[in-house]
Amino acid sequence: MSHPVSPDAADAAGARGERVFVKSFGCQMNVYDSQRMTDLALTQGYSETADIAEADLVVFNTCHIRERAAEKLYSELGKAREVKQARAAEGKATKLVVAGCVAQAEGREILRRQSAVDIVVGPQNYHRLPALLRARGAVVDTDFAVEDKFEQLPPPTEAATRGRGVSAFVTVQEGCDKFCAFCVVPYTRGAEVSRPADKILAEIARLAEAGACEFTLIGQNVNAYRDEDGIGLAALLSRAADLPGVARLRYSTSHPNDMDEALIAAHAENPKLAPCLHLPVQSGSNRILRAMNRRHDVAAYLDIIARVRRARPDIAFSSDFIVGFPGETEADFEATLALVEAVGFAFAYAFKYSSRPGTPAADAPDQVAAAVIEARHARLFALLESQRQAFNRATVGRRFGVIFDKPGRHPGQLIGRSPYMQAVHAEAAAERIGLMSQVEIVDIRPNSLRGRLVEAS
Ligand code: 5AD
Ligand code: SF4
Repeated sequence: MSHPVSPDAADAAGARGERVFVKSFGCQMNVYDSQRMTDLALTQGYSETADIAEADLVVFNTCHIRERAAEKLYSELGKAREVKQARAAEGKATKLVVAGCVAQAEGREILRRQSAVDIVVGPQNYHRLPALLRARGAVVDTDFAVEDKFEQLPPPTEAATRGRGVSAFVTVQEGCDKFCAFCVVPYTRGAEVSRPADKILAEIARLAEAGACEFTLIGQNVNAYRDEDGIGLAALLSRAADLPGVARLRYSTSHPNDMDEALIAAHAENPKLAPCLHLPVQSGSNRILRAMNRRHDVAAYLDIIARVRRARPDIAFSSDFIVGFPGETEADFEATLALVEAVGFAFAYAFKYSSRPGTPAADAPDQVAAAVIEARHARLFALLESQRQAFNRATVGRRFGVIFDKPGRHPGQLIGRSPYMQAVHAEAAAERIGLMSQVEIVDIRPNSLRGRLVEAS
């Protein structure tokens, strides 16, 4: 295995004393990639800054999922251009990089819309950043790289790993072969690819040694994970659970069709697996599911929910919904509300349909009027919000393991996450940060729970 970036190359790159600013948009996959890009910059001699005005290298890791997400980039770039100009007036050079899914989808168009940009690099190519940084003039690198970026990237430096917090994301799978009619991901992230289990386990072990104890295995279709030796997600989770320092495991995001028996059984058998499942359904109407090319119907979805509940009765479900997909009628929308009532979600995201260029649904003739989408979204949101509050209320009096990760606003208070991802505030000593503590929930706030420390575990 050859790393393009050796420590010697870092010296040669001459970035010592220079600063890097990385801003992440969109999903957890991007948060993970942003961290890997930061690590890469550190090996090049940069140090991290949270102040864009101080940065010699600015990276925006972008999201293309909805129009608003993509447009946000251009307003950020406008601001970055001003910073770059102000720095130039002081004799300081700034390299401006656009990475991620907008880079992949729009490529050279980004340079046309914002000439201050120096580098456009896709999500499969960012391991080549050191070489791109040495290039003269503006460059675009969005070919799907033949080499595996994870093999090419340097392992995170120890300094970078330390202090990354108690909860870590680890990308185990990328890409999507499902081609839902609304979605850009198969085009921006490419085909489904799984990383080798031993590489993932080594990364988890390293992060655990550096203080992380909760791990979320992430992928666009994480439950389609299968490495070249045939190891699936359930086996990977089981091996991860055996690593020292691993207290809790999660995985996200899953497609209903990839919920196999082994993974459902893992919810019964793997004690470190959190009792949560994020399982996007998008719509409760069979007609719309068909038009979305989801390849499952409502009955199949409800059947999976029932089977997972049998395996793990205290499981909580979350989901994603799209309202106003082309052709959605009032009856289709009512069917979505009925599905929500039937399942009972701990929380869920309701998205307004956003037409994305290049996807099959973008050209559908029967687009739903914006005002109708707005009204349906408000109704769905209200229902999901009432379910979220009911779920939170039902945790009062329950005891469970909370992993504290930071001090709260009040002295003596810490904030952590429940197994169900709820924020929990409790009086506890700072030494408890990074440890699993038994907490009894005593009260709820609009966006968090209040707990009482019962005992350490
Ligand atoms: N419009 C609105 N929401 C979308 N999503 C994906 N594509 C679109 C789109 N074109 C939502 C889906 C997916 C989540 C990550 O984003 O609900 O599960
Ligand atoms: Fe956004 Fe999807 Fe790309 Fe993630 S994969 S950054 S959500 S477009």
